[in-house]
Amino acid sequence: MSDQSSYRPIKIKVLQTFAQGLSYDLFVQLSSGEKFIKVSHKGDEQSAILKKYEDRGLTEIFLIPEDWEVFVATVRDRLKAKIEDGLPQAGSTQVQDIAPTIGTLSSANDLMKSIFNTRGVDQDVIEYAKEISSGTLKTIKHSNLLRTFTKFKAQCSAEYALAILTGYVACLLVSKFSWGNESIQEKLVMAAVLCDIDLAPSDFINMKESGCDREKLSKKVFFHPSENARMLALESRFFASETITIVEQHHELPDGKGYPKNISAQKITQLTAVYIIASYFVNKIFDDSYQEQSHQDRVSNVVSMTKNKFYQGPFRKVSDALSELYLEEPERF
Ligand SMILES: [Fe+2]
Repeated sequence: MSDQSSYRPIKIKVLQTFAQGLSYDLFVQLSSGEKFIKVSHKGDEQSAILKKYEDRGLTEIFLIPEDWEVFVATVRDRLKAKIEDGLPQAGSTQVQDIAPTIGTLSSANDLMKSIFNTRGVDQDVIEYAKEISSGTLKTIKHSNLLRTFTKFKAQCSAEYALAILTGYVACLLVSKFSWGNESIQEKLVMAAVLCDIDLAPSDFINMKESGCDREKLSKKVFFHPSENARMLALESRFFASETITIVEQHHELPDGKGYPKNISAQKITQLTAVYIIASYFVNKIFDDSYQEQSHQDRVSNVVSMTKNKFYQGPFRKVSDALSELYLEEPERF
């Protein structure tokens, strides 16, 4: 019997995505707090049970640590094939619904965040990050994600939606630069997957509710750029220095009022400026008031807003690239 404090939470959606053919002892936590009760045994057919708790509004269920470790390792081994299965084959002209693949990537992202929060950066986090960012980049190249957002948003977490959309816009922006090759796009997408690896939905609420007031941010949110960069730098053989710099600087602003380091525009790298503008753009387009029918007007307004806000140091070229792209290829927005 596991110690009460050692049960590991896992999102029901993540189990539904990956647990076909697998079966574990499943636990729920009583609303009164501490106590966990077993609701299904290893060997049971569990899809109906998971659906029942999902329909009741539960988002998480619990595994004992031993089963959680087995699940993490099994998904790691299956992840690449599952992502590839959902993407169109090379040369295929068939129109393929990309939403299920985005759902797979989002569930893998949830699991990677749990592993990171349990163990820090280890070989599993590296493997997951590699497969998620590679699958994300392939998905970005396959589809116009800005225009199809409402078709896939139900399949993924808000955090992963922000990551893939930011990756999409960042790749679009670097396509305007002579140096914006495939390797640069990989580094940007890896940063999009890793910037907020430690943050929970409640941290995103804190970020949103704080407005731009740094005083209202929790300590965890305030320091997450430097803390995550520090953790990733421990595996600098795998994570590119450009990616780590983006993670470290991704909440800085050209006027020096970002966080946590308040650095000025001149100290922000060109590639980070691409990422910051892409992230701002996505957050402004898809805020709570987003409506599909006014998409084009919204994009047009945000392109102007971006140019007004970001026009210092390395941001100027990126804002110009955004305006030019929107003028020349509006269909990509
Ligand atoms: Fe962040």
